[in-house]
Amino acid sequence: MKPVRILFVCLGNICRSPLAEGILRHVAGDGLVDVDSAGTGGWHIGDPPDRRSIAVARKHGIDIARQRCRKVHAGDFEAIDLIFAMDASNLATLRAMAPLDAQHKLHLFLEYTQGIIINVPDPYYEGPEGFETVYNMLFEGCMLLIGRLEERS
Ligand code: 4NP
Repeated sequence: MKPVRILFVCLGNICRSPLAEGILRHVAGDGLVDVDSAGTGGWHIGDPPDRRSIAVARKHGIDIARQRCRKVHAGDFEAIDLIFAMDASNLATLRAMAPLDAQHKLHLFLEYTQGIIINVPDPYYEGPEGFETVYNMLFEGCMLLIGRLEERS
């Protein structure tokens, strides 16, 4: 089986989606997935993740410091198999950008994994505990996602 190409999307691509990218790559290991992340906004293009995302990942044994911010682009809707928005606002932005034949690839991440409509909250204006909460939500989502992808293969 070819790896499933996955893109995590948030607003800035410095807090939530790079953390999700690092967690999924770490827990899925080789072969199952090909993971990337991007932002709907372009303020931080080329930057590393927020230092608080780097710190919470490192605390859990995951290195995301070499990842770099990029913006979602039209080619993603063709190249990627599953595009996961961190919150309903990012999902609405993606739905407006994506062509009709790619709409089925777009999902709210925790709705896809947990089956209930929950946003991963934006921790940008929060303290470190906000990043820990986001880490835990993303970790649980990634574990459920792996289970779902393994069922497909
Ligand atoms: P993220 O958080 O979407 O989880 O990366 C944000 C990071 C930066 C900004 C907003 C949200 N910003 O406005 O610069």
